Amino acid sequence: MSLPSGKPGRDCPRCPRLAAFREQWRGREPEWHNAPVGSFGSINARLLIVGLAPGLRGANRTGRPFTGDYAGDLLYATLKEYGFARGTFDARPDDTLKLVDARITNAVRCVPPENKPTPLEINTCRDFLKLSISEMPNLRVIVTLGRISHESVVKALGAKRSTAAFGHGAKAEVGPLTLFASYHCSRYNTNTGVLTPKMFHNVFAAVRACLDG
Ligand code: URA
Repeated sequence: MSLPSGKPGRDCPRCPRLAAFREQWRGREPEWHNAPVGSFGSINARLLIVGLAPGLRGANRTGRPFTGDYAGDLLYATLKEYGFARGTFDARPDDTLKLVDARITNAVRCVPPENKPTPLEINTCRDFLKLSISEMPNLRVIVTLGRISHESVVKALGAKRSTAAFGHGAKAEVGPLTLFASYHCSRYNTNTGVLTPKMFHNVFAAVRACLDG
């Protein structure tokens, strides 16, 4: 199957379970996006942030990564704080939020049932992740949100797992790129104290220093 760009088509058939879930939600909520969610931000950015997959009532509804569910509130507030976003985040794609030198994508582009993509779906969607990485000419830093995103990015880059182990705040050099790993900014992680806003801020402070240094 040809892959002309880092963006799957609206009816991408590669993951039958995800395509069926998408169809089901098209029937239930015809006004929602209910399609693969593309990347947000300029292709010329130096920073790429990789999430897991669209949330059902978040990106799958609105069509913009991390928009419309809790995870976006912490992510976009933090990006603004460190100069990677400006404008107003209002959890809708027509708010005035703009990313600055940053782009956001997901390891899996379609919403998975229960927020859990299967290993096969993660592998299948990695072709799009690879293209999204390779189509950014100025890319210097990747932030991975959660272990699944991290491991998929490491595989997409063709790096050994041992050279870039996952852990909150872990930093690794992979060829010309610097990888920063973070726990995912999900409601579950923040409600249980696995990830505090300060821990999340610290990752983006380190990214800022890396890009400015
Ligand atoms: N929304 C996204 O787009 N990605 C995530 O990983 C979580 C919520």
